[in-house]
Amino acid sequence: AYLRRPIVAGNWKLNPPTRPDAIALLRLLAANFVNHRATTTDDASAPEVVIFPPLPYLSDAVRILEGSGIQIGAQNAGIHEKGAYTGEVSPSMLLSSGCSYVLLGHSERRSLFGETNERINAAVRRCLDQPAGLKVMLCVGETLEEYEDGRMEEVIDEQIRGCLDGVDATALLRDDRVVVAYEPVWAIGTGLSATPLQAQVAHVAVRNSLSRVLVGASAEDVERVRVLYGGSVSPETAYGVGSMADVDGALVGGASLNADSFARIYDGA
Ligand code: G3P
Repeated sequence: AYLRRPIVAGNWKLNPPTRPDAIALLRLLAANFVNHRATTTDDASAPEVVIFPPLPYLSDAVRILEGSGIQIGAQNAGIHEKGAYTGEVSPSMLLSSGCSYVLLGHSERRSLFGETNERINAAVRRCLDQPAGLKVMLCVGETLEEYEDGRMEEVIDEQIRGCLDGVDATALLRDDRVVVAYEPVWAIGTGLSATPLQAQVAHVAVRNSLSRVLVGASAEDVERVRVLYGGSVSPETAYGVGSMADVDGALVGGASLNADSFARIYDGA
């Protein structure tokens, strides 16, 4: 089977509250990773590390994490490139400011800010219009109600189909431009992580959906796509979930705000 390089990613969401706090966290992260963990090597078994800080901390992150091997991402991107769109941020601004990843379709964006699959699709396309240095981490996942109704697979398929509609499958797969993060809404910030088996079943559903949606892609191509698990990942749960065949790493929320917990999650991966 194709060996997928794992990813350990930290989504800071709207934290920490001030820039001095962010700088302190970035320094701890850098200290934990530089020279200690081989994130920069080409060794495919060493996970990539990505953090998604709030945008005002982006330049601090670029400066402080230089040489650490930790990559930086943005928590969202706008769907326009430039012009009269007050308050928006474009994918090219993010790429040229040091971002390697853009998180799109997080359930908080969907539920609290009304983002639809259609809007997320427009952002995915904008990001993929950029040079290969900018990758998309696309979040999908069902609510508790949908899970209990046995609709997990259906919801995952609907979201992947909607968000990847019309993208050029071969280009996307060739440069590993898209990573999928499966985040069941019922597991986000609840302390109630999916079990390793629940995650495995859902990740297979993600892969099945990708092979239906990415028309023209071979089974081997689809096998290259990394699928991360997110939802109450902690140093205690990371190893179990991460050991499942179709789980290629973690997207960590709360625990990524503690540099030591995040490093321990990395070690567990
Ligand atoms: O994007 C990560 C996230 O939604 C998971 O959050 O706090 O449950 O790890 P948390």
